[in-house]
This record gives sequence, C-alpha cells and structure tokens, in this order.
Amino acid sequence: MKVAPSILSADFNNLLEDVKRVECADYLHIDVMDGHFVPNISFGTTVYKNLKKFVKIPFDVHLMIDDPLFYAEDFVKSGADYLTFHYECKNNPLDVINKFKELGVKVGISIKPKTSPEEIVKLLPLVDLVLVMSVEPGFGGQSFMPNALDKIKYLDNYRKENNLNYLIEVDGGINYENALSCYKQGCDIVVAGTYVFKSSDPVKTIKEMQEI
Ligand code: DX5
Ligand code: ZN
Repeated sequence: MKVAPSILSADFNNLLEDVKRVECADYLHIDVMDGHFVPNISFGTTVYKNLKKFVKIPFDVHLMIDDPLFYAEDFVKSGADYLTFHYECKNNPLDVINKFKELGVKVGISIKPKTSPEEIVKLLPLVDLVLVMSVEPGFGGQSFMPNALDKIKYLDNYRKENNLNYLIEVDGGINYENALSCYKQGCDIVVAGTYVFKSSDPVKTIKEMQEI
C-alpha cells in the first residue's frame, strides 16, 4: 500500500522539518481549500512551491476549490505531480481534464461521500487517479465513513473489467485498521493526516501501512 501524508496536520511553525520526517512516504498530499467549495481556507501554491525545492517525493495536490480551471497553470508550475479536482466543482469536468493534460500533469478526479462512482464512469478512461473521499472534505481529524469501501471495490472492478490503470486513493479518517480494509477492496494509496503527523513515530506509522 502506498501512503500519502497530508500536510494539513503538519506543524506549520516548522513545516519543512515536519515534512522531512515523512519523506519515507510515497507521496506528499497537499490540501488546497478555497473557502467556497469547502467551508475552510487552507493555503495556496506559495506553501508547496517552497517545499518543492527540498522534498523529493511526488506532490499529490488535492484541490478542494470551485474553479480549478482558472488556477490550473499556477498549481502545475508550483510543482504538482498529480493534480486532483473535484467532480462536484463548478467547472465542466471534461474541460478540467483536458486542461490538466495540456499542462502535462497527472490528472486525478475526486468524489465526495455523497457522489457515487457510477456518475463518473465516462471520465474514468481519461484520468490517472481517482480519489474517494471518506469524510466530507474541508477538515482533518474526522472519522472514516465506511461507504468509501464499496466505492473502492466498484472502481477496482471497473478498472479490471475495462483494462484501465488509474490509481485508487482514499482520503479522510485513515488509520491502520481502515487502511487494511481499503487495501482489501482494491485501494492503492491512503492519505493520512492526523494519524501520521500526530503519531509519536511518524516513520513507523507510515512503514506499517506501507507493509500492508
Ligand atoms: C480533508 C482533506 C484530507 C485531510 C485528511 O478535506 O482532504 O486530506 O487532511 O486528514 P485526516 O487524515 O486527519 O482525516
Ligand atoms: Zn485531501
């Protein structure tokens, strides 16, 4: 299992130092919130553009924003390797996918807890990653919603049946136990904020999940 620690739960007084502690992970998950798509504001490109100079693992940028089209170029130039937008955002999803591809970034699409994966089947052949939200987006530290498990299973079956190779990622309330359940349903990457950064030994916590 691949692990993507979310910097939302990192120590922003010592951000680089804290992120360096989790560099044994597979990706760095970066939560961008605009205060419109979700009722919270996090940070923009300034924060990760600077980290990019010192951190080697790929940046997995999760856009919880209304207008990913408008900001896409800036997010890519600032160092996103995977750029994930929400299907529920204000833009047309096909336009967003085309724009991201044109910019040469790997494309992710995310669905909120109330959106079913059936709604995005037509888009699945076009993306590199599908991010299943297991909490309502907006805040770290919430509890995992088990309805994510059926969605992961559906997405894994669908990719097998249709010979597709998008990655399946899950985000929200992840700990070792539910990471294991997600893996069994076909999940490739778990995002973990609180569980990693608030752990007494983040490296051990990451490695345990990587060994799943
Ligand atoms: C929630 C964010 C998550 C969040 C995860 O809107 O997308 O990435 O930081 O935090 P935990 O692991 O604490 O639920
Ligand atoms: Zn996220």
